[in-house]
Amino acid sequence: MGKTIIAPSVLSADFADLGGAADQIGVSGADWIHLDVMDGQFVPNLTFGPKLVRDLRRRSQAFFDAHLMVQTPDRIVRAFADAGADAITFHLEAAVHPHRLLQNIRDLGKKAGISIVPSTPAGMLSELLPFVDLILIMTVNPGFGGQHIIPECLDKVRFLAEERQKRGLECLLSVDGGINGETAASAIAAGADVLVIGSAFFAAKDKASFVSQLRT
Ligand code: DX5
Ligand code: ZN
Repeated sequence: MGKTIIAPSVLSADFADLGGAADQIGVSGADWIHLDVMDGQFVPNLTFGPKLVRDLRRRSQAFFDAHLMVQTPDRIVRAFADAGADAITFHLEAAVHPHRLLQNIRDLGKKAGISIVPSTPAGMLSELLPFVDLILIMTVNPGFGGQHIIPECLDKVRFLAEERQKRGLECLLSVDGGINGETAASAIAAGADVLVIGSAFFAAKDKASFVSQLRT
């Protein structure tokens, strides 16, 4: 795979200035903007909906990586597609018909992503692998930024990277939760192509040098 994609999450930004956060991500040299959507049901926290994505879209040309931590993702993917998300990722644990939903997302012209929480085995994705563009392996329990990585979750990245190679597939592997200057290297070594970074990005004083350090 190519160079590591850095995807700062606005979850750790000042919600009173999310436009400013998108600008900061833009000038940092990071590749994507990760948008954590929480419904207070699938996870015990609430964030924002498609309107914010639409408003940020006017402000930023970046690739928008929407991570839906919601209970009924099939009801809302179209709204995020229309709002300007480039990739739409939902949780395997929240979808009744994940195969159908992945196809619906692709039919909307978007990259189709699926995510698993730490307790879900990577093998549960086996039948879905040919139909996904992005797999988001949660390396913390979803809901909040600033948690410590659960290192065992990186075994799932290794497993999926091998599986992808064996089966000649092309999906991207993304890690989300507890990624920082210390843990990034082990995630990349495990096979991660995309690093989602919330608190560590917004805590960094010099964001451009933080982003370039993460890639090396
Ligand atoms: C957690 C979210 C993450 C979060 C990561 O539920 O999915 O994207 O922003 O934050 P950090 O990098 O602080 O663990
Ligand atoms: Zn996320």
